[in-house]
Amino acid sequence: MDFVSYKQLWDSKAGSPSDALIAVDGSSDESIVRSNGQFTARQVSSALDIQAGDHVLELGCGVARIGRELAPSCAHWTGVDISGNMIERAAERTAHQDNVTLYRLDRNNLEMIPDNSIDKAYSIAVMCHMDKEDLYLYLEELQRVVKLGGMIFIETWNLAHPVGWKRWQYEVRHWSHSGQSVRKDVSRNQFCTPDEFELYQRQAGFEVIRSFSNSPWVQSIAAISKDVEWLEKQARRIEKNKTEIAYSVLFGEMFEKTMAVIYGVIHPREAIAFCDRHRGTAETDLYRPYVLGLWRGNPEQWGEVENSA
Ligand SMILES: C[S@@+](CC[C@H](N)C(=O)[O-])C[C@H]1O[C@@H](n2cnc3c(N)ncnc32)[C@H](O)[C@@H]1O
Repeated sequence: MDFVSYKQLWDSKAGSPSDALIAVDGSSDESIVRSNGQFTARQVSSALDIQAGDHVLELGCGVARIGRELAPSCAHWTGVDISGNMIERAAERTAHQDNVTLYRLDRNNLEMIPDNSIDKAYSIAVMCHMDKEDLYLYLEELQRVVKLGGMIFIETWNLAHPVGWKRWQYEVRHWSHSGQSVRKDVSRNQFCTPDEFELYQRQAGFEVIRSFSNSPWVQSIAAISKDVEWLEKQARRIEKNKTEIAYSVLFGEMFEKTMAVIYGVIHPREAIAFCDRHRGTAETDLYRPYVLGLWRGNPEQWGEVENSA
C-alpha cells in the first residue's frame, strides 16, 4: 500500500508558484491572495494582540499569505512548513522583508525553535489537514516554544456547525466512492468539535481563553498562563474585538455557496447573485472575485462568464 507523506503531498501541490497560491488560497491571482492575506492577518493580529516587539510564529505558513502582511507590524515573523516548495514560494514573496525567517520542517515538530522564545503563534487551515496525533504533537511543541504569558490562535474545521458537518459529508461521500485500496489522502480535510479541540489544547498545557464556533470553523485563542486576572483581561479584550476575529454568519453562508459551486451543486451565477445581494460587505469583497475566478477558469464546465457577472 503506497503511503504519501505530508511533505510529498504538499510539495506536489506547490510544484509551481501559481499551484502553490491555489493550494493555500484557491486562487492563483496574487491580488486576491494579498487581500485574503490582509483579511486573515487582521483576524490574527486582533486575536493575539500583536505588538511591535513581538516574536511571532506561524505553523504551516504556506506561501506566507498571512506572514507577508503581518511581518511589518511585529519585531520578527517566523514561518515554518512541511513543504520545501511552499517555503521557497514564501521566501520569494517575503524577499523584501528583513524581519522574516523561514524553515522547512522535516518532521511534525518545531525542533529548530528554542524553548520559550515565541510571544505569539498561530496556525490557519493547517491542523484541519492532519491526523489528530500530529495535531496534538504540534500543540505540545507550541506549548514548549511559546513564552509564559504568550498566546496561540488556531483555526480548524468545526464539525459541530451545520455547514462544517456538510463539508465533512463531502469527504465521507468522496471516500465512499473511492477505490479504498490505498490509504486515505494524508492532507484530506479533518474536523473537530469545539469541545474536542479545547480538550487537546488544555491537555497540551494551554489555558483556553475563548473559542468562536458560530461558523464552519473553530477559532480558538489560548495562552500559557495561570494568572486568572490576566486571562480575564484577555477574555474582555477578545470580546471587545470579536467582530474582527470571528467569522460572521454571512461569511459562513458565502462559504457554503462557494462550496456548492466547487462541488458542482450550483452554477457560479447563483453564488455571484448571492454576493450581489450583500454588496459592499468585506465578505463580498473576498468571495465575489474568487467565485468569478473559478468561473473564468472553467468555461468548459460553466460556459463563458456572462456580462451580468
Ligand atoms: C491550506 S495551506 C494554509 C497555508 C497558510 N496557513 C495560509 O493560511 O495561507 C496548508 C499548509 O499547511 C502545510 N502543512 C500541511 N501539513 C503540515 C504538517 N504536517 N506540518 C507542517 N505544515 C504542514 C502545507 O504545506 C501548506 O502550506
